[in-house]
Amino acid sequence: MSIVAALRGRGPSGFGYGSTAEEVVQGLDLSGRTILVTGTNSGLGFETIRALAGRGAKVLATARTEEKARSACAALNGGSAAAVPLACELSDPTSIRACIAKIKAEGFRPDAIICNAGIMALPELRQAFGYELQFFTNHVGHFILVTGLLEQLSDRARLVIVSSSAHIFAPREGVDFSNLSGERGYSPWVAYGRSKLANILFVKELARRFAGSGHTANAVHPGVINTNLMRSMSPVMRMGAKIIAPLAFKNAAQGAATQCYVATNPRVEGVSGEYFSNCNIARSSKISRDPALAARLWRETERIVSTLP
Ligand SMILES: NC(=O)c1ccc[n+]([C@@H]2O[C@H](COP(=O)([O-])OP(=O)(O)OC[C@H]3O[C@@H](n4cnc5c(N)ncnc54)[C@H](OP(=O)(O)O)[C@@H]3O)[C@@H](O)[C@H]2O)c1
Repeated sequence: MSIVAALRGRGPSGFGYGSTAEEVVQGLDLSGRTILVTGTNSGLGFETIRALAGRGAKVLATARTEEKARSACAALNGGSAAAVPLACELSDPTSIRACIAKIKAEGFRPDAIICNAGIMALPELRQAFGYELQFFTNHVGHFILVTGLLEQLSDRARLVIVSSSAHIFAPREGVDFSNLSGERGYSPWVAYGRSKLANILFVKELARRFAGSGHTANAVHPGVINTNLMRSMSPVMRMGAKIIAPLAFKNAAQGAATQCYVATNPRVEGVSGEYFSNCNIARSSKISRDPALAARLWRETERIVSTLP
């Protein structure tokens, strides 16, 4: 156990900073459960499918391409028998809709969706369909996927969106709707923060819409983990992260714990609209808890989606 894990201890859930994905699903029988996870070829996504498939879940494992998804599935214990590889490029609505169509055609009824895929702090402004790419990939792409599968969910399905404590880097007004293109001043971390704030606001509005339905929606902060997510950072920062990681960061198995916990653990049954960190309910920023902003983001995202191919 790292020093940080020892110092942080465990919370009311019985789990904490140092808990791993395998630990939080230990003893659970997930056979018969279908769990869709995005971004499974790397980092936390791969650790997530490894832990879930290890407990018998049928994992619908997405990656940008079917080839990447296949390799992720093949790398699991039991190989691709434990998981169904699916292509889902989140900056391409056609790819997302093809993924939704495939899930429907196969008759899969997800018991949980873990929206895990993401990109962070792109150094230069990049766009998809005129929208800043982190906002589009991390938020709009997942919005299309989740809303496209609402009818397909099982009765007690759990939606888990992987956000970040970096949601606090979003602009002061939260989501600057007049600059979704990113062209009116682009900052890598502010744009990342805005996309991760959008993840929490999406959860808040989903939870409101889910009330009384048996479905739940929650957001998580996984911790800080040295994964491929850091690829957009400068070589010096990447080197620094590599050196610091064993002392101060979580490893990927610990990073995947909170999303696995929220997606499967019986203690989370019926809990909705919350933000989890270290496998326990935590407090996100004030603006991320603004229901009016969450409702406005939903409306604006629906409008954006209606204009896409
Ligand atoms: N690592 C951290 O410290 C940290 C902290 C807070 C929050 N998070 C969040 O945790 C989640 C997982 O991150 P990670 O650390 O595991 O990073 P990672 O190793 O880079 O994994 C990210 C995954 O997302 C996929 N992805 C990226 N863009 C995509 C797109 N357009 N369409 C489909 N898939 C796409 C990547 O695919 P490719 O490999 O093909 O690019 C990869 O599978 C992210 O949402 C991130 O924001 C991470």
